[in-house]
Amino acid sequence: MPSGAVVEERRGRYPSGTPSLGADAATLAAIRIRCMGCGTPHPANVAVTVCPRCGGLLDVEIPLDTRIRPEEIGQGLPSALRASGVWRYRALLPAIPDSAVVTRAEGNTPLYWDDRLAGYAGLTGGLGVKHEGHNPTASFKDRGMTVGVSHAKAVGARIVACASTGNTSASLASYAATAGIPALVLIPEGKISGGKLAQTIAYGARVVQVEGNFDQALTLLRELTAAYDAYLVNSVNPFRLQGQKTIVIELLEQLGWRVPDAIALPGGNLGNTSAFGMALADLLRVGLIDRLPKLVTVQAAGAAPFAPYFASGWQTYAAVSPETMATAIKIGNPASTPRARRAIEQTEGIVTTVSDDEIEDAKAIIDRVGIGCEPASAASLAGVKRLVREGVLGPDSRVVGVLTGHLLKDTEAVIGYHLRDRDGAARGQANRPLTVPARLDALERVLADALHG
Ligand code: F0G
Repeated sequence: MPSGAVVEERRGRYPSGTPSLGADAATLAAIRIRCMGCGTPHPANVAVTVCPRCGGLLDVEIPLDTRIRPEEIGQGLPSALRASGVWRYRALLPAIPDSAVVTRAEGNTPLYWDDRLAGYAGLTGGLGVKHEGHNPTASFKDRGMTVGVSHAKAVGARIVACASTGNTSASLASYAATAGIPALVLIPEGKISGGKLAQTIAYGARVVQVEGNFDQALTLLRELTAAYDAYLVNSVNPFRLQGQKTIVIELLEQLGWRVPDAIALPGGNLGNTSAFGMALADLLRVGLIDRLPKLVTVQAAGAAPFAPYFASGWQTYAAVSPETMATAIKIGNPASTPRARRAIEQTEGIVTTVSDDEIEDAKAIIDRVGIGCEPASAASLAGVKRLVREGVLGPDSRVVGVLTGHLLKDTEAVIGYHLRDRDGAARGQANRPLTVPARLDALERVLADALHG
């Protein structure tokens, strides 16, 4: 018989690694997390991702008692933190000690204004796209991961874990490798893109393919991490969302704190929608903005439990069996639904759906103007176009859409769109490579064709 200690070790019920925080331990212990269900406060010096009392979702409480002036942002920070488009907003983030911060200079992403995209959406008021694909692992997840993994390091986590449709796993694998903490990743077998799988493997995470969908993988992992001391870094983790707030904070700083009419984003597990709501509430509280834009969450029609919940006036909610080509948002029972509802209510926001065809066409346009994104990201533009067409958003609205991931995240989708027919014909924007004999005259004909359109 193994000794009790060995059994406990096998079950993972070992004491957390001792964080060498020294005097900073008190700073960490002072951070408060509160359950949005039962209101119970909890200290943040242990790994806690759901309320130990009622299982509800947790919020990190940020003491924001004084006004913040734009010129104060980033003041007095060490250069490594100032270089990060997340940590430079330290005053709006949890006080994780500097010594525990794991950063890869994430954030600092571009905001593009493009008249062709505005025209596609039917907007005259302007359409900006904030490109979160310009993060170190090419998706917005890095903003949440730098805070999540820093908290994991601060509490001495010995292993970090997530379930993922591919981007969270790539990001976690990278930040865990940076921190020197082992990572365990559950992915739905055969349902994530090759690029995301490649990143996750390359960065050294232990990858487990679950014979099921994302929702099943996350449910399993939540059971595992509730029973064992593995640190869960999915967006139920309140620290992740604190980092993701900075998409909106940085966006508004780029806009000179002038609030657009709407901010549109794709919705999957609804962590980002929740984080955007928190960011806007925080900015209003510290006086950096004076009104709220509408949040517009766009789901893929085949993976859209949140949209009918919104349409029912928050009366009826039902999980769905998800189906969409936008694999990043192929989620049928979003874990952050109550937090996301709060964000939509706070901002008098909108939830809508778009078909896979609408996503693919919007993506082809975003790609074609030279910006590019992965399919799920294009739901933002497709959703705005639909809402303008339906008269829900006025054509003179000024809107920013968030592109959540890079074009190269899903090259299978690009090849599928451009090289394969839809309903027996090439798609609207299809751009098929030519094959020619290795002769100059063949190339001359191609050149003449290209010149004459
Ligand atoms: N866009 C991309 C590119 C994503 O990877 C995700 C989520 C979303 C949008 C939706 O964001 O979940 O906050 O509503 N990807 C997760 C993952 C689920 O595992 O990578 P959300």
